[in-house]
Amino acid sequence: MRSQGNTTWNISRYQQKRKILNTFLQTFHRFGFFLFFTKTWTNTVLSVSVKKLATRQQLQLTPLLPPYLSSQCISKAGVTKLNTMSAYNPEEDVNLYTPPTTVRGITELNRDLFRKNVALPALKVKKDVVNKVTKSLKNSTLKRPGLKRVVEDSKDEMYRLILLDPCKISCMESFETSEKAVLKEYNVDLQIHMYHLEMTYEHFKPEEILKAVLPEGQDVTSGFSRVGHIVHMNLRDHQLPYKYLIGQVIMDKNPGVTSVVNKTNIIDNTYRNFQMEVLAGEDNMIAKVKENNITYEFDFSKVYWNPRLSTEHSRIVGLLNSGDLVYDVFAGVGPFAIPAAKKNCRVMANDLNPESYKWLVHNCKLNKVNNKLQSFNMDGRDFLLGPVKKDFIKQIEILSSKENKTSIHIIMNLPGLAIEFLDVFRQLFEKQNLVDALPTVHCYSFSKSNEPAKDIQRRAEDFLGTSLEGRCSIHLVRNVAPNKEMMCISFKVPAEVLCKNYLAERDNTEEPAPKRLRPDEVTASEGPQ
Ligand SMILES: C[S@@+](CC[C@H](N)C(=O)[O-])C[C@H]1O[C@@H](n2cnc3c(N)ncnc32)[C@H](O)[C@@H]1O
Repeated sequence: MRSQGNTTWNISRYQQKRKILNTFLQTFHRFGFFLFFTKTWTNTVLSVSVKKLATRQQLQLTPLLPPYLSSQCISKAGVTKLNTMSAYNPEEDVNLYTPPTTVRGITELNRDLFRKNVALPALKVKKDVVNKVTKSLKNSTLKRPGLKRVVEDSKDEMYRLILLDPCKISCMESFETSEKAVLKEYNVDLQIHMYHLEMTYEHFKPEEILKAVLPEGQDVTSGFSRVGHIVHMNLRDHQLPYKYLIGQVIMDKNPGVTSVVNKTNIIDNTYRNFQMEVLAGEDNMIAKVKENNITYEFDFSKVYWNPRLSTEHSRIVGLLNSGDLVYDVFAGVGPFAIPAAKKNCRVMANDLNPESYKWLVHNCKLNKVNNKLQSFNMDGRDFLLGPVKKDFIKQIEILSSKENKTSIHIIMNLPGLAIEFLDVFRQLFEKQNLVDALPTVHCYSFSKSNEPAKDIQRRAEDFLGTSLEGRCSIHLVRNVAPNKEMMCISFKVPAEVLCKNYLAERDNTEEPAPKRLRPDEVTASEGPQ
């Protein structure tokens, strides 16, 4: 990585010329004649000679032109204006944030094209006070990751150079009063110097690089998700010609990323995994991630994993108590099921995708919960009608006893489809003594409605064949796209839905109706437990 170079003061030819011109101009200035004309003329002469020197001698630091050549600051305080020299030298600019314009439109990454020289304002400060001065100037010093604020002055080891923020400091007048007082207190020379710095690819941020490369005015920030060592992007059409360059830049700028992939299909397949193209780095898709302090491993190209669901996973797990019974119908590689088992719940987890099932089993072992978690590889409906129903019946005596403290949770996270599975619960059981053991369902759905909470409730009611009014809670999980929300509806399956002849039997035995839940919209914590 190239960085700040040495300083050079001995530009004798330049200084000689400057001396002659100073004398000449001071005479004119004193008489007040033709100032504008002389400024323009002198600047041109100096500009040419300084430019020559700069290229020939690799100039790094030059004192600025004398005060009377500057236009704004001189009249006020007799201080040096910063920009005088850069105004004459088009190669020099103070913009730290824009790579050279020549990179516009490149589709292959050539890091050398990102080199450019910038001229930064600098103060020359005695070595023994530099820390104190830097601390006091913290509002005005250069703040740019990867760039030092204090650099050596190679020609004068008793001094250091404090680099200043070019957006804030253009002349001594730019300093705040308190800062000026500090400079005075430490006898700092009240002259701003120009420090020439070579910026390289390493210095620029990824968005600055991509903004400079992609066609002007086009969006470059299409965001990405990170899954272990893999960055996963969803590039738009106008970004596709630059996809390999984008992938390389993202990989370069994100430590630990060794692979960048682009989604090539909308996830509408059954297993909810992406088809992807590797844009940069290795094609190893076996990811290792940590979510809520639990480690998961899986093949990202073959299973579903969304890092944006970690809060939702922990919200649901937060509703569980040790000893609860959890049936996870669309379990994926286990982000609800494994933490639930870790919490000492007994878990039955299922996924139709054989790859998800394989990694679910793997993650159980990895997290040492295989004695608490049983895995299944079948369709969700078959899972509910088979193993879940069987297990439930086995537990029924315990679950419906008065002392029972165990809650039953059924998690259904397949937002595109899960609601349509709710009819499974209709008349699933013969018995009606389930009243104290009714399972709580957490069912996910997308909604494009203006009233997503009402929409999801209405659709759940249609599949259950009963009203959930006052007996459900609805939680907004996340905004998936403009006008598309992911929601979670939680409710205890009503006894009249779950048990055959429930109403008739209840009327005979005069059993009280199930406790009604608060009519609670868009809240997580108040939901049924
Ligand atoms: C949206 S993912 C959720 C995975 C996991 N629960 C999570 O929160 O990350 C849905 C999962 O359902 C599985 N799946 C899709 N259709 C299914 C079905 N009919 N029966 C069971 N699982 C299914 C997919 O393979 C996928 O792993």
